Amino acid sequence: MARWAYVNGRYLPHDRAAVHVEDRGFQFADGVYEVVTIVEGRFADLDGHMERLGRSLGELRIAWPMAPRSVEFILRELVRRNGIVNGSVYLQVTRGQAPRDFRFPEKARPTLVVTAKRAASFATPAQLDQGVSVISIPDIRWARRDIKTVGLLAQSMGKQQAAEAGAFEAWMIDPDGTVTEGCSSNAWIVTPGGVLTTRPPSHSILNGVTRLALLRLARERGIPVEERAFTLEEALAAREAFLSSAGTFAMPVTRIDGKPVAGGRPGPVTMALRQAYLDSVAGTAQ
Ligand code: PDD
Repeated sequence: MARWAYVNGRYLPHDRAAVHVEDRGFQFADGVYEVVTIVEGRFADLDGHMERLGRSLGELRIAWPMAPRSVEFILRELVRRNGIVNGSVYLQVTRGQAPRDFRFPEKARPTLVVTAKRAASFATPAQLDQGVSVISIPDIRWARRDIKTVGLLAQSMGKQQAAEAGAFEAWMIDPDGTVTEGCSSNAWIVTPGGVLTTRPPSHSILNGVTRLALLRLARERGIPVEERAFTLEEALAAREAFLSSAGTFAMPVTRIDGKPVAGGRPGPVTMALRQAYLDSVAGTAQ
């Protein structure tokens, strides 16, 4: 089946989809993005992703390229054209095309790009059975990590370092020794006392849409929850550890820097939350 993308008003064959060389996304990483997962034909948390997109745009004073409802229509249309049942859509909005100048252009039309991708599966049996490993690295990013910008070089370097170490993800560590988050995911532990713990939203992390859904599902199930920063040492001594994002949902972490965590096995809270999340996506009316 042919693969389609959307660029500024047009559906195009994926390999011919392009933006201008003076697009500010290309020149300055002056743009924001979202990744939305599709599970069995249903968007996971589409409203949450659209809401966060609006927030990211607002923080950077980039206008919506069109009404949010119209963006949603394009997402659905692209999923349909690409015949996606399980997969993801990637949407990016930049400040638009303008002669290179650090200051914001007065008249630029925001660029909207949407691509779509199939997923053969969201996790391998080994990942669910044995969990994944993470490494720890210093957090070298800028101070507004709450905005989902396309300025992802620090995360790209971190992921590359993780891959070269045979790990799935890198957890980034603040100078105070606390874990901020993964390069493309939020970080969680269950403490020895059974408290589900994840860093509170601030400028230090991206407030994951999956993170918010998991917190809600945990509270509904009466799981004790605390939103606070935790250290790497706490993670190493935790009862469970996991990461979350669109597409990984809740993924068990069983090794940190080569050391086993939680006895090296996925924990029950992690796996129950993963299932609860998938159930909630399946049960959502769309
Ligand atoms: N990344 N933290 C960071 C730095 C992220 O890049 C992401 C998502 C998350 C989790 O957010 P959410 O639950 O809304 O996906 C946390 C996406 C998946 C990406 O860049 O591909």
